[in-house]
Amino acid sequence: MSTPAGPGPGAGPGPGAGPGPGAGPGPGATGDALLAIRGLSVDYGSGPAAIRAVVAADLTLHRGEVLGLAGESGSGKSTLAFAIARLLRPPAVVTGGQVLFRPLPGREGTAAAGADGQGPRDGGAAGPVPAAVDLLRLRDRDLRALRWDQLAIVLQSAMHALNPVMTIGAQLTDVLAAHRPAMTRAARRARAAELLELVGIPAARLTSHPHELSGGQRQRVMIAMATALRPQILIMDEPTTALDVVTQREILTELVALRERLGFAVLFITHDLSLLIEIADTIAVMYAGRLVEQAPAGQLYRAPRHPYTLGLLTSFPPLHGPRSRLTGIGGSPPDLRQLPAGCVFHPRCRFAMDRCRTEAPPLLPPGPGARVAACWLHHEGAQVPEELRRPDDAPTRDHGGQVPRAEHHGRAPRSGTAARAPGPVGDRSRP
Ligand SMILES: Nc1ncnc2c1ncn2[C@@H]1O[C@H](COP(=O)(O)OP(=O)(O)OP(=O)(O)O)[C@@H](O)[C@H]1O
Ligand code: SF4
Ligand SMILES: [Mg+2]
Repeated sequence: MSTPAGPGPGAGPGPGAGPGPGAGPGPGATGDALLAIRGLSVDYGSGPAAIRAVVAADLTLHRGEVLGLAGESGSGKSTLAFAIARLLRPPAVVTGGQVLFRPLPGREGTAAAGADGQGPRDGGAAGPVPAAVDLLRLRDRDLRALRWDQLAIVLQSAMHALNPVMTIGAQLTDVLAAHRPAMTRAARRARAAELLELVGIPAARLTSHPHELSGGQRQRVMIAMATALRPQILIMDEPTTALDVVTQREILTELVALRERLGFAVLFITHDLSLLIEIADTIAVMYAGRLVEQAPAGQLYRAPRHPYTLGLLTSFPPLHGPRSRLTGIGGSPPDLRQLPAGCVFHPRCRFAMDRCRTEAPPLLPPGPGARVAACWLHHEGAQVPEELRRPDDAPTRDHGGQVPRAEHHGRAPRSGTAARAPGPVGDRSRP
């Protein structure tokens, strides 16, 4: 495991690093969240030349939820994911914030050592709900026990991480042997076969070496490995970007099915917002190190509130209905060393006002409901353009009269999350 680049002792959220109103409970509290990121900030380097890659991020992941994180290249998505798992390396420095994780009753393990001191709470689960631990302050030994077992991460390059001289079976059983020493050899072998089949690979391939598998199969093996210990959280950073579109879709379909079966929560990171709309319950959008909008996926798709989200949505064809003009976003992402004053998006924003050039907008609810956006347009005195004030339950943005497939099927929202996003991955119908 790598040396974590956590904050120094006593490091707390920096100025203004606390959660914005509407972002859930305050620092130190996690409500019913499985993972509550509060005011998380990460710099590369120090002093005036530091690159502020993540600035005061607030995110909440609920049990069983798929939380999508979208944004252009360089917006800080991977930095945020690595900070959560404490996999950052110097010159990265976590300058503030908390990553509060609440284990399931009975699976606290040594993580309880870093409890937030709020005591047990009832959360509807069997037995009292364990207190949350701040992953950034966990001892290395406790963190090692928790990684893979409760929090697993799959990266874009993960398929290259397989050992070329060991069979797939040996690598899967090794993970089980390391973390489940009481399991018999036969039980490990049976579980490895089951895991492989869960990700769509016949158990007969247990005897194969990585070079005998395709890139897609290797990535599936990595997903099987990540889920081997039944983690509560799976962080996936561009897990399918290196694969062709068909394989990507197959793997995501399997991932969604696996999630339904095993019940883990997923933080899914991609620059492809269209993908998230199909698989995520909730989507957070990042720009230049800042979270600029977060909403239930269906609402974000039909009724974006932030001009940047609108720009991302008009960068790909609508999922249903007739073709529409793709306008996208003009300009390029800013250099994080030379950010513009005020709203960092203002040089690219067609709705920018005077205030936007001098004052940074806070992340606030733009109206009633469980969503937030950082844009002055939703503050008093501003004229909200028609595109950014559509009702949350508006018809799909292409006005094709269709509703997202999952909602059409009347799927119920999960506890702690809002209505589920548009439909199954494999069913996407592009015009
Ligand atoms: N080791 C490093 N040293 C200095 N700056 C870095 C380092 N790693 C990343 N950065 C900077 O931090 C910012 C965020 O990078 P990050 O990799 O988190 O972006 P990302 O959103 O994951 O992008 P992508 O979609 O391309 O993966 C970028 O501006 C990048 O240049
Ligand atoms: S705050 Fe201003 S510049 Fe920023 S996104 Fe909103 S309208 Fe555009
Ligand atoms: Mg990245």
